[in-house]
Amino acid sequence: MKELELNTQIHLLEAMLDGSKVGTIVTDPELQDNPIIYANNTFAKMTGYERDEVIGRNCRFLQGSDTSAETIDQIRKAIKQRKKLMVTIRNYRKDGTPFWNRLAIAPVTVEEKLYFIGTQTDITVERQQQEAIHANESEIEKLMLPILSIQPNVATVALVGTMNLQRFEALKVKLCEYVNEHRIEHALIDITGLTWTKESPLYWFTQIGEALRIMGSNMYVTGVTPQAAGELVQNLDRENMLRTYSTIEKALADINE
Ligand SMILES: Cc1cc2nc3c(=O)[nH]c(=O)nc-3n(C[C@H](O)[C@H](O)[C@H](O)COP(=O)(O)O)c2cc1C
Repeated sequence: MKELELNTQIHLLEAMLDGSKVGTIVTDPELQDNPIIYANNTFAKMTGYERDEVIGRNCRFLQGSDTSAETIDQIRKAIKQRKKLMVTIRNYRKDGTPFWNRLAIAPVTVEEKLYFIGTQTDITVERQQQEAIHANESEIEKLMLPILSIQPNVATVALVGTMNLQRFEALKVKLCEYVNEHRIEHALIDITGLTWTKESPLYWFTQIGEALRIMGSNMYVTGVTPQAAGELVQNLDRENMLRTYSTIEKALADINE
């Protein structure tokens, strides 16, 4: 860059900033209310405001009813102390639609004059994905009541709700961990509270049974209706046969025989 003329350098830097995915603004804290003195194109596109609509204004115009007062306090303090800061803040576009803004603010001194540089990244989609993952995880937790040892070498887990493949995988992992840790010989899975759908076929349990068998443990499925047991006989070959019982008591009687 050094060999280029100053004007060329500025144009190149501006083109870089405008081509970036990150909104960038500069504010001047020596002017009244620390207004924006530069905004790149990305900031304009992200917020829906034209550049000349934002120059001269403090950036708080992006805040609205759901913006956390705590986060605003944090920003105010950092600016006062001339410290760097990174927060995620609820902001609003010109048309009123909200978005999650990952905001980084940093003080910069150029030729002995202080400025603040702010970079904004719209992380709304990322955040929605995270929320969806969390909701799913708590669904999985809700599905499984705690695994309990009802005899020194026997554990039970009761399932409630509807099963899908992801939940089955979670159950497999959780149960295998428990069986290994507590040296369980017999694991009972009670499905009385399970909503029966075509998406949660009984034969999935054979995979868990197989994983447990490798670990030297037996698996029993209790709460199985005669109709479901009948379906299994049709769908599974002999080797994959599950041990099914109508109640936990019946399975226990068999184990303790
Ligand atoms: C460089 C810079 C960038 C900023 N960018 C944003 C932003 O994108 N969104 C936002 O809600 N606030 C932003 N702010 C914060 C507000 O301008 C203001 O400092 C904050 O609301 C706290 O001050 P107040 O309590 O006077 O409103 C930025 C501040 C600075 C200095």
